[in-house]
Order: sequence, then C-alpha cells, then structure tokens
Amino acid sequence: MITLSQVSKSYSSEVNIGPVDIDIPAGGITALVGPNGAGKSTLLTMIGRLLAVDSGTISIAGHDVASTKGTELAKVVSILRQENHFVTKLTVRQLVGFGRFPYSKGRLTAEDEEIISKYIDFLHLRELENRYLDQLSGGQRQRAYVAMVLCQETDYVLLDEPLNNLDIAHSVDMMRHLQDAARSLGRTIIVVLHDINFAARYADHICAVKDGHIAAFGSVQQVLDDDLLTDIFNTPISVIDGPNGPIACYH
Ligand SMILES: Nc1ncnc2c1ncn2[C@@H]1O[C@H](COP(=O)(O)OP(=O)(O)OP(=O)(O)O)[C@@H](O)[C@H]1O
Ligand SMILES: [Mg+2]
Repeated sequence: MITLSQVSKSYSSEVNIGPVDIDIPAGGITALVGPNGAGKSTLLTMIGRLLAVDSGTISIAGHDVASTKGTELAKVVSILRQENHFVTKLTVRQLVGFGRFPYSKGRLTAEDEEIISKYIDFLHLRELENRYLDQLSGGQRQRAYVAMVLCQETDYVLLDEPLNNLDIAHSVDMMRHLQDAARSLGRTIIVVLHDINFAARYADHICAVKDGHIAAFGSVQQVLDDDLLTDIFNTPISVIDGPNGPIACYH
C-alpha cells in the first residue's frame, strides 16, 4: 500500500498542492487523472522521492519515503517522469540496462542481461535494441523508457503519462502489458493518464486530482459518473455503457 498523510507542497503562494490523505491499495492499476496543472505529476514525483514534500509523510509498503536509503527504496519503487531528458548517445539496450542499476551498480551480470532482454521483448523493442535514442520515433523512445522502468523490477511502479506519443495500438498494448505486470507479477502500478477511457478500460481504481486535491477515488464504476467528471474536467461529459464497460463521451 502507498499511504500519503497530510502531504503538501507549495511552489509559490498561489500554487499549493494538498494536504492530501490517501491510501492506494497494493496490487492492480491505479489511474491518476485530472486536468492540466492539477498536481498529478507533483504527487507522483513526491511518492517516488524525486521531489521533497513540504509537510506530511509518504510510505510505500511500510517504507517511509523520506528516511529509507535511496538504494533500498530503488528496489521498492521505480518511476517514469513525464519529461525525460535523454542522452542521445545511448542505445535502447543501454538505456533499459540502467533499470538494473540498483542491483548491478553498473556491472551487469548474465542474469541482468537476461532480464534486460525480457523487457526489451516485452515492449517489442528487439529490432531497435542497438539503435541510439535519437534515432527513434517519439513512441518508440517512450517504450524504451517504460522498458527501463519495468526492468528495475520493483513491486511499485509509477508512470507519468506512459501513453505519450503512442498510437492507439501501442497504447492498448502498453496498458495490456501493465495489466499483465499487475496481475501476473503482482506489481502495483500508478499511472497518470489523460484519456479517461483508457483509465476506465484498464484501471482497477481511479484517483481524480483537481486543484491540488483528491477530487474522487474509487472503482471505475464509482468515478465514471457524468456530474463528477463534468466537474473535474470543467467540460460536459456523459457516461454511456460500452461493450467493455462505461465510456466517457465529450461534447
Ligand atoms: N517546478 C515548479 N515550479 C513552480 N510551479 C510548478 C512547478 N512544477 C509544477 N508547478 C505548478 O504546480 C501545479 C501542478 O503541476 P503538476 O505538474 O503537478 O500538474 P499535472 O497535474 O501533472 O499537469 P499536466 O497534466 O499538465 O502534466 C501547476 O500549477 C504547475 O504550474
Ligand atoms: Mg503532469
């Protein structure tokens, strides 16, 4: 479980995130949704300890994020940031190999190489593994970053907009992989998504963030509600029954 207690962050007197109290259960996929500037990335990067909280505490599977040693925490939680400033002279395989750093400290073992290959295949990157990152399309590069994060093999995986740049087929594929990682490997995945229908189709829980606060948290059935979504996104939204569950329609 991930527990946030009274977590807050202020960037300036106008921009205040929190205080946030939430328990995100272990297992499955939790989608973080909400408008631009709501605070999704801020919350995710604080959970992943890439940003310090101003006040409050965060714990992941009982590890206090602020006080756990970095090397220990890196075996519990991995994070994909929204923006990745990539080093161009790295191949896909080298990048994915960085995921093994908490274990290998830079000296990859045969077992590490096997794990790297597994995630390269998992995200269909085998044909691209020796390409440099600046020789890839945006979506291919995005898949390489996700492979790197999964390669860290942590129980908790935080992904900020992993569907960025992906076409529909690759988006569906990515969400199925994440579902598979959650179900068969028991991972807990927190994923920021902008498409509410991808959240509705693949997430187990949806957490809606608005103006620095949790506006709703619950099952897909609970959050896919006309009034609730209209209020959160500030635009009329109707929910209809689709072939695989509720679908949000924009006007
Ligand atoms: N480094 C920063 N300095 C000052 N303000 C910031 C900083 N980072 C984020 N903010 C502000 O904090 C608020 C929350 O930003 P955040 O990036 O968490 O939103 P988000 O929900 O991830 O949005 P998006 O969907 O656009 O990615 C916004 O008002 C943003 O302008
Ligand atoms: Mg963001």
